[in-house]
Amino acid sequence: MEKINWCKFLAQIFALTMILLFPAVGGATQMMSNEKDGKDLYTPAPSAIPRINGPQVYGCRPGHPFIYRIPCQGEKPVSFTVKGLPKGLKLDPQTGIITGTSPAKGQYVVIIQAVNSKGQSKRALRIIAGDKLALTPPMGWNHWYAHYDRITDKMMREAADVMISSGMADVGYQYVNIDDCWMNAPKNNDPQRVGPLRDDKGNILPNKHFPDMKALTGYIHDKGLKAGIYTSPGTLTCGGFTGAWQHEEQDARQFVDWGFDFLKYDWCSYGQIAGKDKSLEAYQKPYRQMGSILQSLDRDVVYNLCQYGMGDVWKWGGEVGAHCWRTSGDLGFELDRIFDVALKNSEHRLNSKPGEWNDPDYIQIGWIGNASKMGVPELTPMPASMQYAYMSLWCLMASPLIYSGDMSKLDEFTLNVLCNPDVIEVDQDPLGECAMVIKRPDNSFVMVKNMADGSKAVGLFNRGKDAAEMGVDWSELQLSGKQEVRDLWHQNDLGVSEQKFTASVPAQGVVLIRLYKK
Ligand code: GLA
Repeated sequence: MEKINWCKFLAQIFALTMILLFPAVGGATQMMSNEKDGKDLYTPAPSAIPRINGPQVYGCRPGHPFIYRIPCQGEKPVSFTVKGLPKGLKLDPQTGIITGTSPAKGQYVVIIQAVNSKGQSKRALRIIAGDKLALTPPMGWNHWYAHYDRITDKMMREAADVMISSGMADVGYQYVNIDDCWMNAPKNNDPQRVGPLRDDKGNILPNKHFPDMKALTGYIHDKGLKAGIYTSPGTLTCGGFTGAWQHEEQDARQFVDWGFDFLKYDWCSYGQIAGKDKSLEAYQKPYRQMGSILQSLDRDVVYNLCQYGMGDVWKWGGEVGAHCWRTSGDLGFELDRIFDVALKNSEHRLNSKPGEWNDPDYIQIGWIGNASKMGVPELTPMPASMQYAYMSLWCLMASPLIYSGDMSKLDEFTLNVLCNPDVIEVDQDPLGECAMVIKRPDNSFVMVKNMADGSKAVGLFNRGKDAAEMGVDWSELQLSGKQEVRDLWHQNDLGVSEQKFTASVPAQGVVLIRLYKK
């Protein structure tokens, strides 16, 4: 009987395992994953060594209050230094929060360093003081799809706490935004939300669930985060609460005085004011008005238009002073149509640029309420692979990344989808390009995005019910020669290829790669 050569046998097993886990680029790619409750976890756990995340470029307006928390992963405690910080700004080395007053007009390249007991990392951040904000798409959380008209001050504070404790802030999530229903309503099932709409000077009054707005924004700011608020140019908001009609400037001043950094301005009952006038000017009027009011105030307020795409808002949103605009209706009603909504949104790709973003609505995964019932949150039935596709699409399209699930119930899988810094880097790329669909064979499509460093991010999306082999040739991407391929979700370098990339793409899922010229 032939004797077993154990060394050879073990080497063969090892080789076979490696082939299964890391097949050559160009061949079908079997992605390596951990599992959680039967769902693949694509994103590896962050390293203990500091990794500075967040945008490479940050806009602010001279003389306005400045607040920026350096997003950084790694074992805590991490201590920070920043070289070249302009006059007027100061860093808290323990928290990495930079505060102060924005410097004079100009560009300031600062070098951030983060150190802990395991190592260090360094990164440049370009602060541009001028008239532009949101030089990369805003990232944060909005209460709507978790709490609807049940929102309270306590829930907002809790969301801010979780944004820090969950690690979301460490990959760049920053805004903690109240949506509708913080004001009083003429009528509502909850008596705590019914009361005088304004005081005798016409100042808008929050309802009893929001006893002290200034204290709330202060709480959020103390964590280095920013606070957002919502209103409508109409008499009433979509939820039937007080709108800003004929109090636009007074309300905007109030928001700034309270310390808000973000305003969502939702058309809602304004339709009754605009009446039969369907002209472009009529669609623009309230947004132009609020845009110029915000420009005149002494605070940086990111301005988010919500009018569902009317009058091709992507063509004029920037001109009326907005930083992002919803391109469609409420995504909560269309969660089974993520791919279609994204493909439609990407048609407006040429209107996406730094400071001006198309907004296909929130990231609705994890524990979210059913939009038609405004129900209490339940775990999304969306397949795991599709959730990764959803996030990849939003990043490729340079969409605002505003999560809208229940922060108090964030589970490991949802965080895995939300918090992959390699993937978020695609969203936050300073070039601000929205990806282009380059091919759309049956039930699948490929999107490509040019990145500021000359690399390309490519998403292969499979809409089918079964896994599918998909591929892309370098010629289809206007590339030639050797390219280094990185699998962004698994944060894995796959090697070099001269011609193409092919992979097995999960049903209703994605393979997201970045190609660097070798
Ligand atoms: C509209 C908006 C939603 C949300 C609700 C609040 O439907 O599109 O995002 O703000 O109003 O009532």
